[in-house]
Amino acid sequence: MQALILAGGKGTRLRPLTVYTPKPVVPICNRPFLLYQLDTLRRAGVTDITLSLSYQPEKIEQQLGDGSNFGVKLKYTVEPQPMGTAGAYKFAEDLIREPTVVFNGDILTDLDLKTVIRQHKERQAVATIVLTPVEDASMYGVVETDGDGRVLRFLEKPKPEETSCRNINAGTYVLEPSVLDLIPKDENHSFEYGLFPNLLEKGDAFFAHVPQRTYWLDIGTPARYLQAHHDMLANRVRRFHLKDRRGEFDSATHSEIDELSIVADDCTIKPGVEIINSVLGKNSVLWSHTRVGASANVKDAIVGRGCHIGRSTLVGPGTVLGDKTSLTDYTKTCA
Ligand code: GDD
Ligand code: MG
Repeated sequence: MQALILAGGKGTRLRPLTVYTPKPVVPICNRPFLLYQLDTLRRAGVTDITLSLSYQPEKIEQQLGDGSNFGVKLKYTVEPQPMGTAGAYKFAEDLIREPTVVFNGDILTDLDLKTVIRQHKERQAVATIVLTPVEDASMYGVVETDGDGRVLRFLEKPKPEETSCRNINAGTYVLEPSVLDLIPKDENHSFEYGLFPNLLEKGDAFFAHVPQRTYWLDIGTPARYLQAHHDMLANRVRRFHLKDRRGEFDSATHSEIDELSIVADDCTIKPGVEIINSVLGKNSVLWSHTRVGASANVKDAIVGRGCHIGRSTLVGPGTVLGDKTSLTDYTKTCA
């Protein structure tokens, strides 16, 4: 079994955070996001992994290298321009010889991938898609199935009147290499609008896997990026344990840091500061080299690299500040 991670999107909905940092390596609790996906694959015994890149590929390669630091073997493909999700898989064709796990590169999950692979083999499926239930399915791909788990219908970003189904495409697939023949070469092509409807039309063995009690989140908007941190801090994502909530940092005696928060190396916490349910550090929800003035209140916000937050500012819920933003003393922001 091999793996391909789709990590070529521009991350437009996470702007301004993704202006200089591509979405696949935005930090989640001070770790580049893709490392969580590499952990999931390695735990399932999948170590031959291709990263499918397009936007700022050199920044991703720089951080992950050949994967040896993370117990996996990484290869890279870089599309000259984005080829779409299935087009990216086709573009990596020369590297694909075996059944392949495909991940959308923006999903935080504690999925038991071994079980997905086992079920794919038992059913002799050509394609298996993992599902997850959500409240509002309109932002996702909706997947309707029969009692045996066969996929009956796939509808990407449907209008509310088009379906009442709440099970969506969780962005994890197991694909037999034979499906490569159904994807046109050198063309933009999508799993969601192209390959999946095509498999259904042909009546191929296209099955859904519905995991039990599994955490799932697409981190691709600021609200969900922040949610991912709150869930990690509250230990709601199983299998990923935050080892060191405290790095080596300087903190004034008259400051308060609650038990949940993560503070990485090289932070300086000045007198009168309260850090509550927050991530600070090298790369964090307050990213590195950011200074926060006295009596400033940063709440439910994301602050990029190298920002200056003046004294007595109020950086309110939903705010997302791009790298190098400077806020004058007493500024108030909210989204
Ligand atoms: N290499 C490459 N090339 N990667 C791409 C391209 C491309 O042209 N386009 C998108 N990707 C990557 C993105 O980087 C992301 O990791 C993944 O493919 C999915 O793209 P998104 O832009 O995040 O899609 P989405 O969130 O709107 O919808 C997708 O994910 C949902 C689950 O979060 C769809 O697969 C939905 O069906 C699904 O429900
Ligand atoms: Mg997404």
